Amino acid sequence: GRVVALVPAAGQGVRLGAGIPKAFVTLRGETLLRLSVDGLLASGVVDRVVVIVPADRVAEVRTELPDGVDVVAGGAERTDSVRAGLAAAPDADLLLVHDAARALTPPDLVARVVAELRAGTDAVVPVLPVADTIKTVDAHGVVTGTPERAELRAVQTPQGFSASVLRRAYAAAESVATDDAGLVERLGGRVRTIPGDPLAFKITTAIDLALARALCDEGPW
Ligand code: CTP
Ligand code: MG
Repeated sequence: GRVVALVPAAGQGVRLGAGIPKAFVTLRGETLLRLSVDGLLASGVVDRVVVIVPADRVAEVRTELPDGVDVVAGGAERTDSVRAGLAAAPDADLLLVHDAARALTPPDLVARVVAELRAGTDAVVPVLPVADTIKTVDAHGVVTGTPERAELRAVQTPQGFSASVLRRAYAAAESVATDDAGLVERLGGRVRTIPGDPLAFKITTAIDLALARALCDEGPW
């Protein structure tokens, strides 16, 4: 089966506050988007990559990414952007959805997600245990519960799906979701987890970017 990776990169990066869309911030001279695409291709298990960027960046990104990478315009919510990517991947048998913001994701994690799909799993997400205790709160900030930490996991990308399962989930989606597997869950679909990787952290705020820069300076990249 053909593996297509969708890379949502059309967000504004409000929490990072860099003044430009987050996917175009650089680490060692490469954009987060480019690093993410290179990581996917380096895995050796991805046949095609579709990146989804802000509409006013499509032409520029087309000239900057390797040949064979498709570039389409995203939308207001991440869900809209992934939907645009899905429309550009009619040839996929297996789909990965991978945040451009997870620029240091090791290719080995990509390969493990695809291996799980090839073993017959319809939906798979990489996860890590959570370090902090997590509480639920109401609109006033009053604690309403403390889920047992041992049962909680922080979810990363790439998330992997059989194409038919992800397409059905998006066809049924009536509101936005913060991750793609969540839409599959809403349809009652079974989502498996595999161990994630700390390097697949999402660059969300300034401290995450500082961490990424420190890792790049000292790491083997
Ligand atoms: N994304 C997207 N289209 C959107 C919103 C987000 O393609 N309308 C992408 C982002 O570019 C990012 C990934 O989804 O690669 C994860 O989203 P997030 O980390 O929230 O990025 P931003 O939405 O850009 O950041 P913020 O929420 O701080 O504005
Ligand atoms: Mg966002």
